[in-house]
Amino acid sequence: MCRPDYFEVTYSINPWMDPTEPVDRSLALLQWETLRATYEEYGHKVDVVPGVPGLPDMVFAANGGLIIGDRAMSAKFTHPERAAEGPAYHRWFAQHGLAGLVDAKEVNEGEGDFLLVGDRMLAGMGFRSSLAAHQEVAQHFSRPVVSLELVDPRFYHLDTVLLPLDDTTIAYFPPAFSPASQAVLTELYPDAIVATDADAEVLGLNGVSDGFNVFLSDKATTLIESLRTRGYNPVGIDMSELLKAGGSVKCCTLEVHE
Ligand code: ARG
Repeated sequence: MCRPDYFEVTYSINPWMDPTEPVDRSLALLQWETLRATYEEYGHKVDVVPGVPGLPDMVFAANGGLIIGDRAMSAKFTHPERAAEGPAYHRWFAQHGLAGLVDAKEVNEGEGDFLLVGDRMLAGMGFRSSLAAHQEVAQHFSRPVVSLELVDPRFYHLDTVLLPLDDTTIAYFPPAFSPASQAVLTELYPDAIVATDADAEVLGLNGVSDGFNVFLSDKATTLIESLRTRGYNPVGIDMSELLKAGGSVKCCTLEVHE
């Protein structure tokens, strides 16, 4: 995770960001600290990457890259406003001894668009990461990648509309995907939890699951109920201030996959 010490909304690269609307950085810090403390309370180790002045979106650590076993890749961003985050995360990865580390050559926004479900990598395209990036990831991490097309600009990253729950189950919001990609998801995950509009609109799917505990926005009330019914333990967190930049729980979290 990356502390939002320099968090603000000074530019707009997604429909959530309105630079004329004030952001309360101390509240963002408080919400972020609560998320970090919650992970630790549930037994998850958190490393903190220092933020960089002038990079207000760096708090969205999920976009910094991908870390799976003995391989890692640092991101290459779509927008010039975030470009310097790629090298910043790369340096941190290198300093922390991550092996098999490369820079992405193609536009690749890390776990924003690449989500591991068991051994299968689901990859988003349409707004940020490219199809060529999907191939680059398949090669570097030697695993199958399923490309999915995103069609709604509010849901510009895969992790805004698809939440891996365990090795075989996901929750997702079908209307955010092209008809062809919806068909792929129905075929691969017939038992998926289908989220409502209201859950998607608060970025309720932007969560993190350890296979049982599911950390997500406390505003995603229907999804929280469905998760409970299906035997998961939803843990709701208030992320309202970070939502002003278009991010929630998952965006703030880069997972280290064994
Ligand atoms: N303002 C950031 C952007 O538009 C938010 C990134 C959210 N991160 C995520 N993993 N979905 O790039």
